[in-house]
Amino acid sequence: MDFTDKRVLVTGGSRGIGFDIARAFLEAGARVAINGRTAQSVDAAMEKLGNAEGLVAAPGDIGTVSGCESAVNTAIDAFGGLDILVNNAGVGAGKPIEESDEAYWDAHVDVNLKGAFFCCRAALPELRKSNGNIVNIASDAGLMGVPGITVYCASKGGLVNMTRAMALEVAPEVRVNCISPGYVDTDMIRLSAKRKPDPEAAWQKMIDYAPLKRIATPAEISHAVLYLASPEACFITGTSLAIDGGSTAGH
Ligand SMILES: NC(=O)c1ccc[n+]([C@@H]2O[C@H](COP(=O)([O-])OP(=O)(O)OC[C@H]3O[C@@H](n4cnc5c(N)ncnc54)[C@H](OP(=O)(O)O)[C@@H]3O)[C@@H](O)[C@H]2O)c1
Repeated sequence: MDFTDKRVLVTGGSRGIGFDIARAFLEAGARVAINGRTAQSVDAAMEKLGNAEGLVAAPGDIGTVSGCESAVNTAIDAFGGLDILVNNAGVGAGKPIEESDEAYWDAHVDVNLKGAFFCCRAALPELRKSNGNIVNIASDAGLMGVPGITVYCASKGGLVNMTRAMALEVAPEVRVNCISPGYVDTDMIRLSAKRKPDPEAAWQKMIDYAPLKRIATPAEISHAVLYLASPEACFITGTSLAIDGGSTAGH
């Protein structure tokens, strides 16, 4: 796919899935603004990408409205507009309902749902001008219930349905889609396995979770993001594409 001269912002592009999405767009010719929580995490990611021409640092806390606006406006100012917004920044840690306090709820919902909304809001004027599009990174846990991560499920389920509502409201100028990954090999799930009493067994459980019996690579998510963002997907909006090895097909 050719994204020459397309202007892209990837939130949470400093590590994991977001980093690979940024890499893939860059390799396809796009100019890419990378967001992460801090200037340090973004700089480290840009260095890993060889500080390539076309890369822009757009740090900001996506858990706050001001952080969203700062990241989006940095990208728009640097590029003179925006074609593609990827809302990928996210947090996920399990907790039983009775132990879930307000801070835990806010930490998840503020980044995973509120942040995606306010990044969209900040980017929409430019996306309307460019007939651009948005790709939200949700989760298979946004398509079904998973015990032990109820708050995460709520945030990602909200993101899936926000994608549909927003797609209707901003059509026909802007397309909005989301991807719902199953387990992907990143810090997020490696740390989650490490926190369990038997980390090896926890990792094996993640492998066994999907009918395809493995954990995805970040690149398997990036391919789909580039497809949904490309002109080839010009009649796709409001959809959620599961890339989950079959986990939401039924158990
Ligand atoms: N890995 C999986 O199995 C999986 C499955 C389904 C869905 N997902 C979703 O995929 C997305 C990426 O996950 P991942 O596995 O790549 O996670 P990760 O390895 O933990 O990386 C998270 C990324 O999000 C950024 N981030 C977190 N909070 C932020 C904030 N408040 N402001 C700005 N950036 C913030 C981090 O930035 P810093 O480097 O600055 O901390 C980092 O770049 C998330 O939305 C996650 O829910 C992941």
